[in-house]
Amino acid sequence: MSKTAELKLNGQTYELPVIEGTEKEIAIDIGELREKSGAITLDLGYKNTGATKSAITFLDGDQGILRYRGYAIEELAEKSTFEEVSYLLIFGKLPTRQELEEFSYDIRTHTLVHEDIKKILDGFPSTAHPMGVLASLFCAQTAFYPESLDPNRSDELVYLSIIRSLAKMPTFAAWSYKNALGHPVNYPDNELDYCSRFLKMMFALPGQRYEVDPVVAQALNQLLILHADHEQNCSTSTVRIVGSSRASIYASISAGINALWGPLHGGANQEVIVMLENIRKDGGNIEKWINKAKDKNDPFRLMGFGHRVYKNFDPRAKIIKRAADGVLAKLGVKDPVLDIAKKLEEVALQDDYFVERKLYPNVDFYSGIIYRALGLPVDMFTVMFAMGRLPGWIAQWKEMRDNKEPIGRPRQIYVGERLRPYVPIDQRG
Ligand code: ACO
Repeated sequence: MSKTAELKLNGQTYELPVIEGTEKEIAIDIGELREKSGAITLDLGYKNTGATKSAITFLDGDQGILRYRGYAIEELAEKSTFEEVSYLLIFGKLPTRQELEEFSYDIRTHTLVHEDIKKILDGFPSTAHPMGVLASLFCAQTAFYPESLDPNRSDELVYLSIIRSLAKMPTFAAWSYKNALGHPVNYPDNELDYCSRFLKMMFALPGQRYEVDPVVAQALNQLLILHADHEQNCSTSTVRIVGSSRASIYASISAGINALWGPLHGGANQEVIVMLENIRKDGGNIEKWINKAKDKNDPFRLMGFGHRVYKNFDPRAKIIKRAADGVLAKLGVKDPVLDIAKKLEEVALQDDYFVERKLYPNVDFYSGIIYRALGLPVDMFTVMFAMGRLPGWIAQWKEMRDNKEPIGRPRQIYVGERLRPYVPIDQRG
C-alpha cells in the first residue's frame, strides 16, 4: 500500500509520496513540491536530505551498522580482500573465483602509468601535499585517455577506466610520497598483491632489497576494506554531483579526492595524530584538552570524534581499535600516543558534553596510529583513505551513470539585496 505525507502551507494541503527503502528507512519525496506549491525545502549541510536511491551501502547510524551490498563490514574486514570488496561494491555481487582472477589480472596489467605523467609529477615541488599531487595526477588521466571524456562511451570503455583507476591509484599514491622525499619513483611489481605492490613502491630504496612484511600488508588490506564505501558522504556526493554533469570518471574522482582532503572529512586522520602528539608534548593532560574541545570560544575540536551519521558508535572504529592493538603488538611497536588516544576516549565517553551530543570515536581516531606503525608518514594518511575509498567512488559514479540520474543542481533561498539602481563610481559613499 503506497503511503503519503501531508504538508500544510498557506492554508493548502499537499500530498507527498513516501518512499520506503529495503531496510525500512523512510523518505518524503518532494520531487514535485516546488511545482505544486512554489516552495522548496532548506537543509543546510543536507542533514536530512536524501540525494539518491542507492543499492550499494547501507548504514544505520543509531545502531552502528555498516554493510556493503548487504554484507556486514565486520565479516568483510575479517574474511575478504580489498580487490574482492572492490568487485563487490562496483558490480553488486561477490565474484566467483574465475571472475576475481580476471579482475585481479586486469588490474595488474594496468598498473604502469604513462611516462609523461612522471613529467607532471616532476613539476611539483617536494613541499607539495601528496593529496594535491594525487588529485592532479588522477585528473591528468583525462589527457592520456581522452576517450574517457565521451559521455556516451561504451560499457567496455567504462570498464577499462574503472580498471585503470584501481590499477594506477597505488602507483600515483606512492609516487606522490616519493616526490615529497625527492626520491626516485619505484615501478609496480606485478608479481605482488594489491597492498604489497603499493608498499614496495612506497618503501623500496635503490640498491636495497625490500621484503613486504605480510603483517603490514594484511593490516593495510583491512584498513582499505573498512574505508571502501560510506554511502553519500561529502566526497562521494562530490563524485556523484561532478559525474552528473557527464564529466569524465577521472575528473569526478579527482574532485572526490579534493573533497576528502578537508580536516572535517578524510583529513581528520592526519589531524588526529597531530592532536595526540600535541597532547603528549604538552605533558599528556587529558582534562585540559577535553575542556578545550568543550569550550565554545576555543576553535579546537577533538579530532576523530563525532560523526554526521553515527550517533551511537562507528563500527569501523571498533574494528580499527582492536586492530591497532594487534598490529602494534605483532610489529613490536610501542607508540605512546596509543595510550593517550585510549585515555582520551575513556574520559570523553564519560563526559556529559560528549554523551549528550552523541560524540564517539570515528574511523579516523585509531587509523592514524596503525598507519604510523606501518611506517607511513602523517601526510600520507589521507592518501591511504583515498586509496581505500576509490572503489566506493567508482561504484557510486557507475550507479549514477547506469541510473541515468539528472544533473545535480540544488536550489537556494536568496537573502541578498533586492533590485537597486547602479551607482556611478564618483557618487558612491
Ligand atoms: N569536538 C568537540 N565538539 C564537537 C565535535 C568534536 N569533535 N564534533 C561535534 N561537536 C559538537 C559541536 O560543537 C556541536 O555542539 P553544539 O550543539 O553545542 O553547537 C555538536 O557537537 C554537533 O556538531 P556538528 O558540527 O553540528 O555536527 P556535524 O554532524 O555537522 O559534524 C563532524 C560532524 C564534522 C564529523 C564533527 O563531529 C567534527 O568536526 N568532528 C571532528 C572532525 C572529524 O573527526 N572528522 C572526521 C569525520 S569521519 C569522516 O569523514 C571519515
